[in-house]
Order: sequence, then C-alpha cells, then structure tokens
Amino acid sequence: MTTDDTILIRTATDDDWNAVALLDAHAFGEHQNSEDLAETQILTSSKHVVMAWDGETPVGVAMHFPMSVTVPGGAQVEASGVSWVSVAPTHRRRGILRRMFTEQHRKLDAAGAPLSLLTASEATIYGRFGYGPATEEHSVVLDRRFAQFHPGVPPVTGVRLIESAEASTLLPDIYHRWQRATAGAQPKPPIRWERFFADRENRRHGLTELFFIAHVDGYVAYRRSPTESKIVVQEFIAVTDEAYAELWQVLAGIDLVDTIEVEQAPDEALPFLLTNNRLPKVTSHHDALWCRIMDVKAALEARTYSVDAQFVLGVEDPFLDAGGTFEVTISGGSAVVTRTDAAPDATLKLDVLSALYFGTHSATRFAAASRLWARDKEALHTVNIAFATDRASVMGWGF
Ligand SMILES: CC(C)(COP(=O)(O)OP(=O)(O)OC[C@H]1O[C@@H](n2cnc3c(N)ncnc32)[C@H](O)[C@@H]1OP(=O)(O)O)[C@@H](O)C(=O)NCCC(=O)NCCS
Repeated sequence: MTTDDTILIRTATDDDWNAVALLDAHAFGEHQNSEDLAETQILTSSKHVVMAWDGETPVGVAMHFPMSVTVPGGAQVEASGVSWVSVAPTHRRRGILRRMFTEQHRKLDAAGAPLSLLTASEATIYGRFGYGPATEEHSVVLDRRFAQFHPGVPPVTGVRLIESAEASTLLPDIYHRWQRATAGAQPKPPIRWERFFADRENRRHGLTELFFIAHVDGYVAYRRSPTESKIVVQEFIAVTDEAYAELWQVLAGIDLVDTIEVEQAPDEALPFLLTNNRLPKVTSHHDALWCRIMDVKAALEARTYSVDAQFVLGVEDPFLDAGGTFEVTISGGSAVVTRTDAAPDATLKLDVLSALYFGTHSATRFAAASRLWARDKEALHTVNIAFATDRASVMGWGF
C-alpha cells in the first residue's frame, strides 16, 4: 500500500485539466462538459491549482479563483475563492486534503488576499482549517394563491417582463450595484454571466428555460416546472426595498402556478409585506459562504463596526500562523488593529472570528456554545454589538 510520503503535492500544469475533471466528476457525481471545463479555466489558471499524485495517478485537487467580496461597510476586499476540492475515494482519510490545503494556503498567504472563501459540501470539514460559516440562506416555499400584500406596500409601477437578450444588457449592472451594497457578495465574472444567459440544458435540472422580470433597481430570473405547478427562482436581486416589494407582487401575481420556491437571506422582508406572515414557509436553512481570515489586521480594518469600542482579542489559528493577540480600537466605525501583549478580553479560534466577521453569527451565540470566552459580560456585550450588522450578509454567486 502506498504511504502518504509517496504522495507528491505539486502545482498543476496546463496538461493536467483532464485529470482535474476526472477527480471532480467522481467526487461530485457530475461529468463536466467541455464548456464547463473551459469556463473554469477562464476563472482560474493552472498555477492556482494544487494537485496530489500517487505516481502517475492523480488523487487530489484543490484550486482557487481570485475574487473580491464586499465586507460590512461596503469595502471591496481581495479574496481567494477555494473550489474544486476533492480527494479520490481510493485515497481518502490519509491526510491528502490536509497536505494540499497546507501547500495551497501557504501560497494564498504569500499572495496576500486578507480573506479566503469557499462553499462547503459538509459542515464538518473546514473548521479545522480556520473557516467559519459566514452567510446563511433559507429555502422558502410561498403558496402564492393565498398571498395578500399589506395596503401600505408600494404599488407596482416599474416592473416589466423582458426577453433574455434584453436581460443580458440590463442585469449585470443591477447585480453589481446590489453586490457593492451587500456584504458577502462577490462581483460576478463575465464568464459566469455568459454561462447564465447561455442557459444550457445541463444547467436547467429538468426545469424550463429562464424567464426574466425586471425593475430599474432589481430583477428576478426564474424557471417553471413542466410537471409541477411551481416557479423556482434562480436569482432575486433588489437594490432597493421598493424594487423588492414590486418584484414580489409581480412574482406572486403569476396566475396558474401554486407555489414559488426561492433561496432567501434570513432577514428578508417578504413575510411582513404579506398580510399573513406565516405564508412563506422556511423548509430548510443552511450555511452558504464560508470564510477564513488570512490576515487578521487587514481584514478587521477593512470592515466597519456598529459602535466605538476598544477590546483585545486572543485569536488561535491551529492551522497556519495568522493568530495572535490583537488590540482593536474602533472609532467612527473604523478599526485600528495592533498586536499587543495585553490580556485578551475575548479568546476565540480563527474559525469563530471568521464566522463573526460578516455579522451573520453573534459572539453571544459562540460564547453560549463554549467557543468564545469573554473576560466578563460587559466584554462579551461589547464584542457582540461591535460585530453586529444591520442587514444579513448574502453570498453573491456560488463557486
Ligand atoms: C472531503 C475530502 C476532500 C477529504 O479529503 P481527505 O484526503 O480524506 O482528508 P484528510 O485525510 O486530509 O483529512 C483532513 C482532516 O479533515 C477531516 N475530514 C476530512 N474529510 C472529512 C469529512 N468529510 N467529514 C469530517 N471530517 C473530515 C479528517 O478527519 C482530518 O482531520 P484531522 O487532520 O484534524 O485529523 C474527500 O473526502 C472528498 O473528496 N470528498 C468528496 C468531495 C467533497 O466533499 N469535497 C469538498 C468540497 S467542499
């Protein structure tokens, strides 16, 4: 049997893409067609792909897409979007992921992006590498036949039904206005827009082609089911509350359909636009974006905060060496972060700090889970309200 010492971890070359596709197909049960593979090669390059080889046999892959993300307060922060992570089932649980991740994250650290992001197939994998769940989504089903809107909801004046060709000229600008105002959202690369509007059969999962409705400040892209009386929303983007309310009224007004399925941020206004706030049923909720803070000072100084405060955080990073003790001084919403020898007001691991970073989860929740230890109640309260945000953070596009 091969020992792990005989596994070679190395950066991929342009000749390795078929091996990458083979590993990915076995891991996720879907063969990449040539268009999908070509798109991935536009989103990244082989120098951003780490592979594991057992002799001539490819046995592991992890790559990243260079990207940026909006953080609370609106700054655009450089990030590495880790993706296509898999180890062959012939070689799992022998430390290959850990070795690939060590190599990959040393390179990401040297490249300097303050944040690393991913979406996780399983919640149990990435905490040990300093990643925490950073945004949440609710799967919601609305029985539109019973949807009544409150009388005070702004009337529909500016929503149009549009064709795909017009959508391709309007939607990217609306999305990017929304993205810049929404923590957790990343700019969508041109190749992803091309894929979206190409609307290829293998991406429809048995549903119809895309339909689009648009407002000057928002849009909905949805599909219908040919067998069930339902709409499945693919993207619901609203820059303003007015656009959100108008688009919902039009969507819920599509007759001859029973239900609308949609992924929502946990704090969306839909239940309270309706006279019956119980009508939108949350059928599941799950984490979406995961974050690892690569550079604590750069990351904490990039976002804004709800209160002026001063506290010392003791941050442990069992995976790399991003931890330490940091004094955080917040004034006018901005933080100055310096290393210090002072005793911490709160101690936590990097995955927990990363989960707090986008404001989705609270310090009090992690304290209750024995994953954040504060000096006293006052210190916990200060850290808790400092990281809180007005609106939920939302992942922009899945990668
Ligand atoms: C997830 C996957 C990449 C793990 O690869 P691996 O080489 O078996 O992982 P390693 O042996 O290096 O394990 C590293 C650590 O993670 C843990 N781990 C790995 N996979 C895990 C899982 N699915 N659940 C819980 N823990 C896991 C290991 O126990 C080990 O812990 P330790 O180092 O703290 O003792 C592999 O199982 C796989 O390809 N799965 C299918 C595709 C997938 O889900 N990819 C992730 C996409 S986000």
